[in-house]
Amino acid sequence: MLGVCWYPEQWPETWWEDDARRMREIGIAWVRVAEFAWSRLEPRRGAFDFDWLDRALDLLHRHDLKVVMSTPTATPPKWLIDERPDILARDERGLPRRFGSRRHYDFSSPAWREETARICEVVSRRWGQHPAVQAWQLDNEYGCHDTVLSWSPAAAAAFQDWLRARYGAIEALNEAWGNAFWSMEYGGFGEIEPPQLTVTEASPAHRLDWRRFASDQVAVYNRMQAGIVRVHSPGRPITHNFMGLFTEFAHAPVAAELDFVSWDSYPLGFTDQRMPWLTAGERAAYARTGHPDVAAFHHDLYRGIAPGGRWWVMEQQPGPVNWAPSNPAPAAGMIRLWTLEALAHGAEVVSYFRWRQAPFGQEQFHAGLNRPDRALDQGGLEAAAVARSLPDLRLDCHPVRQAPVALLFDEQADWALRIQPQGTGCDYFALVFAFYTALRERGLDVDIRRPGQPLDAYRLIVAPTLPILDDATVAALAAAGAVTLLGPRTGSRTTSHRIPEELAPGPAQRLLPLKVIRVESLPAMVTDRLAWGNRVYELGVWRERVETELEPLARFADGEGAIFAQGGVHYLACWPDRALAADLVEHLLDRAGIAWRRLPPDLRLRRRGGLTFAFNYGSVPQRVDEPGMLLLGDPDVPARGVSVWSG
Ligand code: GAL
Repeated sequence: MLGVCWYPEQWPETWWEDDARRMREIGIAWVRVAEFAWSRLEPRRGAFDFDWLDRALDLLHRHDLKVVMSTPTATPPKWLIDERPDILARDERGLPRRFGSRRHYDFSSPAWREETARICEVVSRRWGQHPAVQAWQLDNEYGCHDTVLSWSPAAAAAFQDWLRARYGAIEALNEAWGNAFWSMEYGGFGEIEPPQLTVTEASPAHRLDWRRFASDQVAVYNRMQAGIVRVHSPGRPITHNFMGLFTEFAHAPVAAELDFVSWDSYPLGFTDQRMPWLTAGERAAYARTGHPDVAAFHHDLYRGIAPGGRWWVMEQQPGPVNWAPSNPAPAAGMIRLWTLEALAHGAEVVSYFRWRQAPFGQEQFHAGLNRPDRALDQGGLEAAAVARSLPDLRLDCHPVRQAPVALLFDEQADWALRIQPQGTGCDYFALVFAFYTALRERGLDVDIRRPGQPLDAYRLIVAPTLPILDDATVAALAAAGAVTLLGPRTGSRTTSHRIPEELAPGPAQRLLPLKVIRVESLPAMVTDRLAWGNRVYELGVWRERVETELEPLARFADGEGAIFAQGGVHYLACWPDRALAADLVEHLLDRAGIAWRRLPPDLRLRRRGGLTFAFNYGSVPQRVDEPGMLLLGDPDVPARGVSVWSG
């Protein structure tokens, strides 16, 4: 169940045998190769050098290591860029993003699509049937380094075609976008440019369609690669490695073309760089562990779109990374904890990035399982410790079961909030994590579902916000009949980013009779007092005024309602702080009849089949009283440790 990313092209061949032997020794079964190897595979157009990779794959096979072979498209080589410069993506000013790092391509470039098809065919023909090759990774981290949007002539032309297909007639587009506003009307699709370099903000509908278009380009590109590899390497499952806290494209359509999904887990970097809503105290507390929910959230997020429930962690942080504002070393035990946590959430394989720290190139400060001097580093030692404990857990006998709670997530919700935030603090992930953390701190397993997926058999469904809410999702919520929470701004925009005729929450008015008649955002220093039962909260960020016959569950000091419910469906008419989100979650769990308990700080639980895992992100041992037989660890779960019970 363990793997590693290995770069034979970066090391003397005399080291390979020892590398493979030591991989086996510490319990590695899978090796991902070649995702950045294009310049070594094809040093000049058509002049292929396959021998070195043949030898590497043969050697891995001899050592009984299974290979995830990759298409090398994240790094088109220099000769190719010089030959076909229109492969390069353009930044918002229209300037080419230059050669010299990676991901410099434009998803829409016809030249690039041709070259992609060519190299995918070459590598999958050559190694598709190699006995070591047991899986494929397409490309590497679509969208990393801000590369989903390209402001190129090719993208502009493809955008026009995309709009033509979506709207049919220019009048329909003008109407949908509301182009009578500011004289933005177009006479034909050929006139429309990307929403780029406008004097002030471009139309929100224009920007939303631009994002949808760019997202579709990623899906089309991925489908093209998958189709080629499938032909030449039948029977080998295909994946792509997604990223964390990343919504630049819709992931479900990409996942739909894969055989399993994977994602790259860097808990320390994410906590430092991508969770700006955390307090200084939390940042300090989690600097060496990562936030206790950041990895778990993504395991659940990507498990939710995993074909047949199959997913991996393709890159697991092995030590300090190089790319966050600061890059502390993980506390002792964390690499083992992260690995077991991924497995507890159902990962098939956890693969570490990377086998050895590179003493050259951009990632010299990035740890590997081994140091540059070839000695095992902390990550390698902890990976070996995981491998030793796996036989006792017999994870294969414990498939993941459906959780009692579903949290609804949608990239489009983040797009809508970023296109028109209307107030600082309206951060989609902050809202999502407020609820996810509240649920996890109460010992719950959570499934993350998307609009459009079935919601049957959940007892509680939490939608932190779904600004663009379609009828199908409303119907699925109604059919599920679960206790439901709809957060602020739900149903506040149509698919064309207009305020719905019936006002927010739009089609959700069919679930409970209320109407949002005014909204306001609040500057950081302004709060309102919300009273609920005997508790009082000071809330800022966002408030809505609701018109309804319903008696509110909670009110603001001025008498306006803040939380409403009918049957099991609840509406929250303000931006919650973490305390309100937590109390609301307890209320909803009680309504849904779901048992919960407040866990000790920094402790998390996760069930996999008949196993219960406890993870202690804190710095002191925490007592957990679980029935069943202890398989691993201690009832006093050690700091940064893991305990597992069965039964
Ligand atoms: C990932 C990427 C890897 C490596 C790693 C460093 O985003 O896929 O190639 O750069 O980050 O943490």
